[in-house]
Amino acid sequence: MSNFYEAVGGEQTFRAIVHEFYKQVPDDDILGPMYPAEDLDGAEDRLRWFLAQYWGGPQEFNEKRGHPRLRMRHAQFTIDEAGRDRWLQLMSNALEKISPEQLPNEYRAAIWEHMERVANMLINAPSGGHGEMHPGMHPGMGTSSGQGMTPETIPHDTQHSSSTSSTPNEHSGS
Ligand code: HEM
Repeated sequence: MSNFYEAVGGEQTFRAIVHEFYKQVPDDDILGPMYPAEDLDGAEDRLRWFLAQYWGGPQEFNEKRGHPRLRMRHAQFTIDEAGRDRWLQLMSNALEKISPEQLPNEYRAAIWEHMERVANMLINAPSGGHGEMHPGMHPGMGTSSGQGMTPETIPHDTQHSSSTSSTPNEHSGS
């Protein structure tokens, strides 16, 4: 087991997480209309490539899609707090389908923290569009900002900082 990606079971695990996520998308009232109905398999591939690459797997996202630039790639979608919350909800549901044997808690927590961090970074619209308000939270404001990450769980070598970091500069710059 040389890195995080392999330690959590490699492609099989990321495939399962992403598949469980996308299973819920078509019927979702907020996310369903945003995703390409005719290319959900493609969307599934793209998210899996990204996550696998981030956690130290094959650099497939970069090879097939280029630099992640997730803020830029999400700029065409209106993402407010309700959209973020729904994305995280579906992802939380997906992770629950993966057994603790396949994905032990410390790895699960690290994956979740990364998802939350990126989701917060991707908010690009004021809240209210979907009728849900979350007092005390502000667009772009990470709730965890990397706290709780330990050197063991951060795959330093494989991070692509401009798309995944939550530092203030990169919020506005990427
Ligand atoms: C905050 C709520 C989010 C919304 C509403 C959202 C929505 C979308 C949509 C509609 C797409 C287009 C699907 C496609 O054709 O590939 C997409 C693509 C993608 N999303 Fe998100 N997303 C969110 C959060 C995230 C997070 C947290 C991550 C990473 C952890 C992520 C990673 C990606 C990636 C890698 C792609 C494919 C980009 C590409 O190759 O063009 N997204 N997202």
